[in-house]
Amino acid sequence: MKISQELVDAINDQINFELYSAFIYFSMGAWFESQNLKGMAHWMEVQYQEEFNHAMRFYRHLTERGARVIMKQIDAPATEWKSAHDVFAVAYHHETIVTERIYKIGDIADRLGDRSAQSMLHWFYNEQTEEEANTMELRDRLKQIGDSLPALLQIDAQVAARPPAPPVPASSIAP
Ligand SMILES: [Fe+2]
Ligand SMILES: [Fe+2]
Repeated sequence: MKISQELVDAINDQINFELYSAFIYFSMGAWFESQNLKGMAHWMEVQYQEEFNHAMRFYRHLTERGARVIMKQIDAPATEWKSAHDVFAVAYHHETIVTERIYKIGDIADRLGDRSAQSMLHWFYNEQTEEEANTMELRDRLKQIGDSLPALLQIDAQVAARPPAPPVPASSIAP
């Protein structure tokens, strides 16, 4: 089935938004480095790589369907946050926006009866559940500890163990 231009445009916009998301997490990582919170800086580096992989998964889908990927200017990310808790509160809110955007692409795919796009999007529906859960959990744990430095350093040590991001997806239906 030929992919419609409406869906191509929506997916190109989402490629840009995933790269913007990567840029935000990269910036958050740099902020954590400035605070000497190396574990959280590492967590953000992994998240940056994951976001690039999300962009690549949409990129693969357009390529596989014979459509053009068009790169656009990426917005500048924020550079300052009030606290580690603030960073993860912003990250959680950002992920809820990503989820809404992906659902809207799903609405277009539904309306057009594009099952190939819908199948590809299922991976993202699951991924967004995970992304919201991860950022929500860290936001809430950082709220619970208040301004306890030992507790903050303990969380920082725990998130330092986050495993590396999976490899760049070879196709839009890679597991
Ligand atoms: Fe993403
Ligand atoms: Fe993820």
